[in-house]
Amino acid sequence: MSATERHSHQQLAQRAKDITARELRTYIERTKGSQEATDRARKVLPLGVPSSFQAYDPHPIVVRRAQDAWMEDVDGNRYIDFDMGYGALFAGHCHPAVRKAVAEQMDYGTLYVTPCEMNAEVAEMLAERYQLPMWRFTNSGTEATMDAIRVARGITGREKLVKVEGGYHGHHDEVMISMKPPIAEAGPADSPRAIPATAGITRGVLADTLVIPYNNPEALKRVLRNGDVAAFIVEPVMENIGICMPQPGYLEAVREITRKYGTMLIFDEVKTGITAGYGGATRTLGVTPDLVTLAKSIGGGLPLGAFGGSQECMDQITAGKVLHLGTYNGNPLCMAAAKAVLMEVCTPAAMKEVVERNGRLVDACQATIDRAGLPAHTVQFGAKGCVTWAPEPIKNYRDYKATDFDLAFAQWMHGINRGILLPPGLDEQWLISMLHSDDDAMTYADVFADFVAELLA
Ligand SMILES: Cc1ncc(COP(=O)(O)O)c(C=O)c1O
Repeated sequence: MSATERHSHQQLAQRAKDITARELRTYIERTKGSQEATDRARKVLPLGVPSSFQAYDPHPIVVRRAQDAWMEDVDGNRYIDFDMGYGALFAGHCHPAVRKAVAEQMDYGTLYVTPCEMNAEVAEMLAERYQLPMWRFTNSGTEATMDAIRVARGITGREKLVKVEGGYHGHHDEVMISMKPPIAEAGPADSPRAIPATAGITRGVLADTLVIPYNNPEALKRVLRNGDVAAFIVEPVMENIGICMPQPGYLEAVREITRKYGTMLIFDEVKTGITAGYGGATRTLGVTPDLVTLAKSIGGGLPLGAFGGSQECMDQITAGKVLHLGTYNGNPLCMAAAKAVLMEVCTPAAMKEVVERNGRLVDACQATIDRAGLPAHTVQFGAKGCVTWAPEPIKNYRDYKATDFDLAFAQWMHGINRGILLPPGLDEQWLISMLHSDDDAMTYADVFADFVAELLA
């Protein structure tokens, strides 16, 4: 008998809320040091955190140390880290090869603001992986998407941008629109309204950004028809609403439609770029965009982003038509880390092993769901995975909003008190890094099984 035959959905949701309430009391008890540190930080930092994504109630865990696949908080609690810096640590915390490369580079200096040889070495490796010839470095994913959009505007001479509802592409104005809009304000599912995610967005920027649903080629055609759109920016696999896969033929259709209307296609691979496989989602799924943006895991834990593109696109920069600037761009410390990541750590053989390890974890969680007959399913893409609390795979943001957040939150809270640190946002996914062992992965599977047993008790 399935869980939903034995318990109504309402009963499961109520049970989840009870578990959350109990786990919250435990959390407060075992993270008193984090509470104190947060109270102090709140006096000098809004929300007590350096990025608002890091804030959650009653307080985030405050960390004092991280190595390999674990983190330790200021209370001395140890966690197996499945968040891995929102997926930025595919190499693991302080991978020995990254540590060595960075330490050696320290002897040669941290910032030149004139080129180093590693700029070309790293760009060559990216060109080979993503099959796009020219690259530039940035310090974050935000800068990478901002610069890629500017290049697209430069080459097309157009101003409008199209993005997907529920898509996150960093914190510059033109993409902080319809990130996670309230459904009540978001308009029809097939032609959503553009909703600013923050104060401070001008009416002009809002008017230039059009929003469409993911996995809907018809909607894309509709907004490109006028021939005034510079770029369509999209994650080839959406990884800010769990893991939302493209339906068969979607990315191919996107490629064809953007080409037909002279719109640049930007694949935002900040999350998928290195965790999806050797050449990111671009290579894995076999659709090549005009521009790709990268960040997170390419830096091995150091702040590094990059964007690459076709010769024609990147010639905009060569010709001086589009300016791309930045004091810290391509700084030798980050280049040393990236070189180690791309050359020594995230090799095809090592990645295959990690993806298989992740597959075993995903399978174990799916088996638990199947045994219990829960209204949930797992999704795997490369080294990442997630449990989505909906019976059917989600196709877009609206489907995601219909998933069960009570169950998701209870599972997250339950895990954290048992040393399993998943991303706090519920819209994220776990990452198995190069330094997670089989035991680490299976510990999560066991804790998940305990949670499900409690849910059904
Ligand atoms: C898909 C995607 N693009 C861009 C960004 C922005 O990257 P950063 O936080 O390095 O600015 C993120 C960050 O989570 C992201 O998930």
